[in-house]
Amino acid sequence: MQTLTVDLGTRSYPIHIGSGLLTRMEWIVPHIRGHQIAIITNETVAPLYLESLKQNLTDFQLTEVILPDGEQYKTLDELNRIFDRLLEQRHNRTTTLIALGGGVVGDMCGFAAACYQRGVDFIQIPTTLLAQVDSSVGGKTGVNHPRGKNMIGAFHQPLCVLADVNVLSTLPDRELAAGLAEVIKYGLITDAPFFDWLEQNIDKLLARDEQALTEAVLRSCQNKAQVVAGDEKEHGRRAILNFGHTFGHAIETHQGYGNWLHGEAVATGMVMAVDLSVRLGWVQPELRERTRALLQQCALPVTPPGDMTQESFLALMSIDKKVVSGQLRLVLLKRLGQAVVTSEITQERLEEFLHMVLTELSHQLQTS
Ligand code: NAD
Ligand code: GLY
Repeated sequence: MQTLTVDLGTRSYPIHIGSGLLTRMEWIVPHIRGHQIAIITNETVAPLYLESLKQNLTDFQLTEVILPDGEQYKTLDELNRIFDRLLEQRHNRTTTLIALGGGVVGDMCGFAAACYQRGVDFIQIPTTLLAQVDSSVGGKTGVNHPRGKNMIGAFHQPLCVLADVNVLSTLPDRELAAGLAEVIKYGLITDAPFFDWLEQNIDKLLARDEQALTEAVLRSCQNKAQVVAGDEKEHGRRAILNFGHTFGHAIETHQGYGNWLHGEAVATGMVMAVDLSVRLGWVQPELRERTRALLQQCALPVTPPGDMTQESFLALMSIDKKVVSGQLRLVLLKRLGQAVVTSEITQERLEEFLHMVLTELSHQLQTS
């Protein structure tokens, strides 16, 4: 097992990464203050992993909340079901919530912990690759609103993160690929040697080689922890972690939550962000080809849906959380491994870029 620390002063916490950690409760029990625990999971993950987790937590008053599975249930209504259960079972302010699941469960459990009785403790046990490399680390929690993704939420850091790569063995291929999109993101934004490593090891990752997966989770978490430690509440640099997300969130919202996976939308969004960086002359076209090729090896989409128009992109991008005083900020690349947040892209430049991308796409669709 390997342990990293997210360095946030008095709120610092460990990320434990390894195989078979789900039953190693010695890593989480010392963090639990009271005698009450509520495990928040969903109907897919519960039959796979809830019993293993529970059998080592018998000394606690335990409540289970099993949510329906899917991004479309990441809502305030479902969040309320968590509060109903906690109140029904008389959980007090020393309770600890445990998120057992992917990013949807983790974000909802974290937000429930941030709100319940004005804030209780929580622990992340991420079970998707995406959650292990991204959503369980850094304290962003929340739910979607019909008008925008993750629009209702709070920063609330977990007490610890336990990432067991064994659980990835049951993950559907499409979900594994969606997680790899976020892994590739770290190579692009902060870690050029990691991008090279990914190009060399992508076959092993797709074959779920345990050692390769552990290395990918570790390197991703190292990159994320470093960025979060420097800018916990996203006043500046942390926004680079949203590379590809401004275009990606527009795609995800347009398609309806749950139709394109988050990582799939991010994959296309990253290609668009690299493409814009190339068209601005900031990076070489070769990087666009390398990015596209790596994502395609994972069977991830690299072009936006054929029915998205410039207008739909612009409308959905205008409610992005990175909009400040009406000015959209984009995350682009200055070079491989160096992302920047920029407000330099004017509305006209963005419209011209979207027009070019969508026209090229429509030509491709007509000739294919
Ligand atoms: P998800 O939580 O929907 O999980 C994907 C699917 O895999 C679900 O059907 C789930 O039930 C299933 N699953 C989970 N673990 C499994 C396992 N071990 N075996 C078999 N099936 C399993 O999706 P996700 O990709 O994990 O997370 C996406 C969410 O994360 C989005 O809502 C996104 O907004 C959020 N997110 C948050 C942050 C953050 O910083 N908080 C960062 C990135 C993404
Ligand atoms: N996934 C973006 C962030 O954590 O900031």
